[in-house]
Amino acid sequence: MHFLGAAMDVVICTAKEQDAWRDALSACLPEARVHVGVEAPQCDYAVVWKPPSAFFAGQPRLKALFSLGAGVDGLLAMPALPREVPLVRMEDVGMAAQMIEYALYVTLRRFRRFAEYAEAQAEGRWAPRSYRDRHDFPIGVLGLGVLGGAVARALADFGFDVSGWSRTAKTIEGVQCEHGSAGLDVMLGRSELVLVFLPLTGDTEGLLDRERLAKLPEGAALANLSRGELVDDEGLLEALDSGWISEAYLDVFAREPLPAEHRYWTHPRVHMTPHVAALTPHDVACEQVAEKVRRLEAGLPVSGVVDRVRGY
Ligand code: NAP
Ligand code: GLV
Repeated sequence: MHFLGAAMDVVICTAKEQDAWRDALSACLPEARVHVGVEAPQCDYAVVWKPPSAFFAGQPRLKALFSLGAGVDGLLAMPALPREVPLVRMEDVGMAAQMIEYALYVTLRRFRRFAEYAEAQAEGRWAPRSYRDRHDFPIGVLGLGVLGGAVARALADFGFDVSGWSRTAKTIEGVQCEHGSAGLDVMLGRSELVLVFLPLTGDTEGLLDRERLAKLPEGAALANLSRGELVDDEGLLEALDSGWISEAYLDVFAREPLPAEHRYWTHPRVHMTPHVAALTPHDVACEQVAEKVRRLEAGLPVSGVVDRVRGY
C-alpha cells in the first residue's frame, strides 16, 4: 500500500541509536518528514523507546504512538503517556527467530547435559549419561503470543514435549495448551525447563514467586526472557541456593543494568545476558511502522494495538 496524501511529520525518540533509527524510517517512509527527539516539531506519529516524560508534552496532536519494542510496560507506566492516542507495539520483526535461537541454546544445553560434561571434564571424570529421547524432556512455555507461541511451536517441531500457558485458551499443534491459574500449576509441575515470554502487567508481576517456583520439579531450570519483574528475585535465589532450581538463564532484570552488588552476577547457577534475547532490527521494524502508518492514513485498522486495560 502506498500513501498518496499530503506530507506528514513523524518523530523518533529513543534512548539509543536515534539517528540510525531516523535514517531507517526515512528510507521506509519517504513520504514523511522524519524528526528526532524532544525538540521535534508537533508530529502526526511518534516512534519511541524509553522517551523522557517531557517528550509527550511537546506532541499534543499525535494520531498514533509506536513502540520500538514488543513490551510496552515501560511506556504504560509513564504518567505523561497520552491515554487517548492508540499505542501500537512491535510484532515479531525478527524477534521470534532470535527467541527461538535463545530457547534452543538453553534447551539443548540442558537436554544434552553439556554443563554436566564440562564439570566432569574440569574434574577429570569420564562420566557418560544414558540415552534420553526428546519426547521425554518436558518444557513449559509461559506466554503463547507472537514470541512464546513461535518458541513453543519450534520446540514441539523439534520433537520436545512442550506445554504452554496463556491468558485465553489456545490450540497449537503439538503443544499441550493450558490457561488460567489451575493450568499454570499443571504445567509448572511437569516442566523440567520453564521459558518465560509473558508481558509485564498487573497480573503477571511477581507471578513466579516462592510458592510457584516450588511447584517445579526438583532440579528444573528457568529461563526468563521477557521482564525481570515477573520473577521474585529473593525466592529464585533461595531456590537456586538449595538446588531446587538447578539453573536460571536470565536476560532481563527488575533493575537494568543489574546493580553491581546483585547476587545474580556471581551465582554459580545463574547465566546472564544483558537484555539482548531479541533485539529490534532497524530496517524490518521501520518497514512494519511504515506499513501501519500508511494503513492508519488510509483509515484501515492495524494489528498490535495495545489494550490499555489488560496491559499488553
Ligand atoms: P504477546 O504477543 O502480546 O504475547 C503475550 C502472551 O502472554 C500471550 O499469549 C498472552 O495470552 C500471555 N499472557 C498475558 N498476560 C497473561 C496472564 N495474566 N496469564 C497468562 N498468560 C498471559 O507478546 P510477545 O510479542 O510475545 O512478547 C512477550 C514479551 O516478551 C514482551 O511483553 C516483552 O516483555 C518481552 N520481550 C523481551 C525481549 C528481550 O530481548 N528480552 C524482546 C522482546 C520482547 P493471550 O494469548 O491469551 O493473550
Ligand atoms: C524488548 O525487551 C522488547 O520488549 O522488545
